[in-house]
Amino acid sequence: MSSGLYKALKGMKDIMPPDIHIWQDIEKKAREIFASYGYLEIRTPAVESTSVFIRSIGEDTDIVEKEMYTFQDKGGRSITLRPEGTASVVRCYVENNLHGLPSPQKFYYMGPMFRYERPQSGRFRQFYQIGVEAFGSSRPEIDAEVISMLAHLLSGIGLQELHFQVNSIGCEKCRPGFKEALLSFFEGSFDELCVDCRRRYSQNPLRILDCKVGRCIEIRKGAPSVLDHLCIDCRDHFQKLLELLEMLGIRYTVNPEMVRGLDYYTRTTFEVTSENLGAQNAVAAGGRYDRLVKEFGGPETPAIGFALGMERIVELLKMTLKYDLPAPEVFIAVIGERAGREGVRIVDDLRAGGVWAELGDWTSSLKSQMRRADRLSAGLVFVIGDDEIQSGHVKWKKLADAATGEVRISGIRDFIIEGKQA
Ligand code: HAM
Repeated sequence: MSSGLYKALKGMKDIMPPDIHIWQDIEKKAREIFASYGYLEIRTPAVESTSVFIRSIGEDTDIVEKEMYTFQDKGGRSITLRPEGTASVVRCYVENNLHGLPSPQKFYYMGPMFRYERPQSGRFRQFYQIGVEAFGSSRPEIDAEVISMLAHLLSGIGLQELHFQVNSIGCEKCRPGFKEALLSFFEGSFDELCVDCRRRYSQNPLRILDCKVGRCIEIRKGAPSVLDHLCIDCRDHFQKLLELLEMLGIRYTVNPEMVRGLDYYTRTTFEVTSENLGAQNAVAAGGRYDRLVKEFGGPETPAIGFALGMERIVELLKMTLKYDLPAPEVFIAVIGERAGREGVRIVDDLRAGGVWAELGDWTSSLKSQMRRADRLSAGLVFVIGDDEIQSGHVKWKKLADAATGEVRISGIRDFIIEGKQA
């Protein structure tokens, strides 16, 4: 039952303990793995000029057409809360002349994205992505690097049983031929397509391949495959990528129907899905976007990246892993005001030494302080009263196995910190 006057907005949620520990673990692992692949963090604003997204994601996509949080600011400019990270990173790359630095330039980012979608399980209006973008190499080796890094990250956080799907959607050389083939395939059944697909027919027929409407799925059976229309260079690139993935032991399936919902892609596209999620089963997705830097006014610069959806990853981890909550190493229970004051000094000293220490409230009974220590799953508990202060010695108890012992009060810090190092 919720209470209070206010609620978070629909499709937006608070991320709190205990789940936040899972989030932090994923972020930590991601930073470690990205560092070993030479990806550096980049933080772009959460809001951009609306045209940054229209120009990159594409005018006829669901995101731009229906899902953007677009506002006028007080200066009358149209601004949009970022629905994804790639467009902002490309804007930043071009604006700051990062193409002048040695290639490839490799970046990662973490943060909230906003899409005004119909909220449902695994789909939010504010959701978090961790993403990477690598600029300046058109080699399939970098495609393999990006996909392998994603595979390492997912297995590193404990996720198995995921499906990697890859595809190539060609380049500006082979795309027109494929579009032609699609147009003639769908020409006869145009009137039976859904309203969206009829529009897609003239604007971007590739997206008919991605439609979720049952009738359209039926109609597109036997549609031309993009893989049969790749030019020699694209075919070679894709073939080499598949060989590299095999060499790296990454299990994948080729899915020629995977065209992705953003218009900037060229050549390689990929998606990672899980059978343990419902309809929104993509945990990560990405691909090449070799034309976008140029489109944004930069030099011809091939690029590739991916983004993973944090909420979906966390949900999967909660289904499969048991998480231990972090717990204080030390709990000091105190009897009487004098001991209470001494406790303040001791925990302050321990905390300065990097130890998570908690202090009981001397105005509460010892029993209720011990209950709190128990609830927190504290490691060692010390009970300090007038007698202990008088003698300078204090007993400790390990809650996990009830082991006990005694130390000098003045030696608690060394006892704990050296004990940790031992
Ligand atoms: P995307 O496929 O739109 O790609 O999103 C990537 C991932 O973000 C999805 O696979 C999903 O896990 C998560 N996601 C997307 N929308 C939502 C939502 N409403 N609620 C929860 N999770 C969601 C991109 O965003 C590209 N920028 C990826 C990329 C980077 N391509 C190249 N570089």
